[in-house]
Amino acid sequence: MHILVSGGTGFIGSHTVVELLNNGCDVTVFDNLSNSKATVIDKIEKLTGKRPAFFKCDMNNKAGMNRVFSSAHFDAVIHFAGYKAVGESVEKPLMYYENNICGTLVLLDMMKKYGVENLIFSSSATVYGIPEKCPVTESSPLSTLNPYGRTKLMIEDILRDVASADKTFSTVLLRYFNPVGCHPSGLISEDPNGIPNNLMPRIIQAVRGQIPELTVFGDDYDTRDGTCIRDYIHVVDLAKGHVAALDYVTSHKGSVAINLGTGNGCTVLELLKSFERVNNLKVPYSIAGRREGDSPAVYADTSLAKELLGWTAGLGLDDMCRDAWKGACMNG
Ligand code: WQD
Repeated sequence: MHILVSGGTGFIGSHTVVELLNNGCDVTVFDNLSNSKATVIDKIEKLTGKRPAFFKCDMNNKAGMNRVFSSAHFDAVIHFAGYKAVGESVEKPLMYYENNICGTLVLLDMMKKYGVENLIFSSSATVYGIPEKCPVTESSPLSTLNPYGRTKLMIEDILRDVASADKTFSTVLLRYFNPVGCHPSGLISEDPNGIPNNLMPRIIQAVRGQIPELTVFGDDYDTRDGTCIRDYIHVVDLAKGHVAALDYVTSHKGSVAINLGTGNGCTVLELLKSFERVNNLKVPYSIAGRREGDSPAVYADTSLAKELLGWTAGLGLDDMCRDAWKGACMNG
């Protein structure tokens, strides 16, 4: 199969391209490089011995997208491209709606024009908002707290509507929990432009002295140690979940949302202590007040992924902490 990967030089996209190539797929990547580097393509080739075709292209550039879709016939699209910083989305909502929503509409127009019927979408557990209870199932109530989360839910709704109207269309909406870690080689890793907001990159910045210390946002939640619980999942497990979803999306029609998590909840302090133990390091940190919009606990019910995709996460917290640190050290 030949797969088109939007945002394929990004964190999760690049790891998924590696797994696709290792599974015998042909791959074409397009990315506007707003939050990644073209050198990731060289690293993917080094890891797999195969070089995906690459186009530097923005989703909203129709001429560029016509060039991409004219370059080969694609059996499916895996759609990662999109802005993903929660805080930035609050400050610049129109930038997020134009890029994430309008860009996706252009992508869908191109798929229709060139006869591509299968789409895997990079959704997020953020569509669950602050869940009433855990583990979160795919039938849990949906609600969003910020423009970034609203773009994810809007795109899910758009894809459900397209699948309802067009019986030849097939889409799988993969709801990621908290992706961390990187390829065990350390060659490709989370390498965001600007200041990362997520916990693991901030732990690493604190250890490396790039920030004075990690700020732990709140230790007065109703959890076993007072800090928030999340479902951290190794990005390589996440990538393999996309390969598993490919078999499903090309052999079914309609739309389905599927959680990609480990099903295990882990507190902020538990992740921090694991990171210290595995890497034999100290993480300087202090406790501050709660961060607005944080949920006390979010972790996945993973039974549907097992049932429909035959996929479960195999890597644990120690793997995530070891690989994240190795990737950070190798990629400066
Ligand atoms: C995790 C926990 C923080 C930083 C977000 C997006 C979600 C998805 C994953 C894209 C929370 C605490 C964090 C810090 C801290 N991204 N924390 N100090 O908020 O669960 O999810 O990223 O799809 O859509 O919403 O992830 O890593 O920001 O926070 O104490 O410096 O770590 O309070 O409890 P989150 P996170």
